Amino acid sequence: MFGDAEAYERFMGRWSRLLGPRLVKFAGVLDTGRVLDIGSGTGSLSFSIAEQKSRCQVLGIDRSNEYVEFAKSRNPVPDRVNFEAGDARQLRFPDGTFQCCLSLLVFNFIPDFRKALAEARRVTRPGGCVSAAVWDYGAGMRMLRVFWDAAVKVDPAAEKLDESHMPLCRAGELEELWKQGGLEDVSERPLDITMRFESFADYWDPFLVGQGPAGAYLRNADSRRKEALREEVKRRLGIQRENRRLRLQARAWAVRGVAPKKG
Ligand SMILES: C[S@@+](CC[C@H](N)C(=O)[O-])C[C@H]1O[C@@H](n2cnc3c(N)ncnc32)[C@H](O)[C@@H]1O
Repeated sequence: MFGDAEAYERFMGRWSRLLGPRLVKFAGVLDTGRVLDIGSGTGSLSFSIAEQKSRCQVLGIDRSNEYVEFAKSRNPVPDRVNFEAGDARQLRFPDGTFQCCLSLLVFNFIPDFRKALAEARRVTRPGGCVSAAVWDYGAGMRMLRVFWDAAVKVDPAAEKLDESHMPLCRAGELEELWKQGGLEDVSERPLDITMRFESFADYWDPFLVGQGPAGAYLRNADSRRKEALREEVKRRLGIQRENRRLRLQARAWAVRGVAPKKG
């Protein structure tokens, strides 16, 4: 029923559960009032906000109905957290509805992210915060870096698909966007987490469920290429025993800014 959402949870959602609490702390969410989670996916960030801010009402919006229904089915606090379908570029809410808007691992996937930021700013009350985080796909997110470096080694044509080409994933890019978008008191910082894998299979198998650009690449690869890539990844990770536990560092860039009092 929730095939895609469950696959996302296996591949990335589990790491959003580690990153979400860090973003909530950094963003400057107040203790009460309404908070919007833009691109809420399977719900990790919304649940983190509700856990850290027990008097806030949280609404998660996502353009995927399946993810919205999955997040609802997992919601531990339905009296304070809700989810609905919506597009970040065209929000249905009046100006100044929320004390804070947050977004985790979404802005790089929105082609016209300036429009999405303008909407986030519009629906945030003057003086409220607008905050987002995006993986550092270039270097700091080792889980994906190792994958793409290995993919390019076995198949140079994979270079154009490498997620390091994503927008907003390098130091300073989110900060620049927020400043251009008219937010005030803008600041950016890295958020670092440690990804702990039980075994090499715990790292590799989620790549096979077809999620994101890496999953899409593997879905289209034949079995020989998949095997060559798996071996190259193992080599780069220094894996000798596949049942050994694995720890990889992952960095995201987070930005926050304040919605201006005037204009
Ligand atoms: C990588 S997932 C992140 C999900 C969640 N925030 C998390 O951290 O686990 C990106 C999410 O953004 C959503 N999304 C992409 N473009 C969107 C848009 N224009 N409006 C609303 N949601 C969007 C996708 O459906 C997906 O759920």
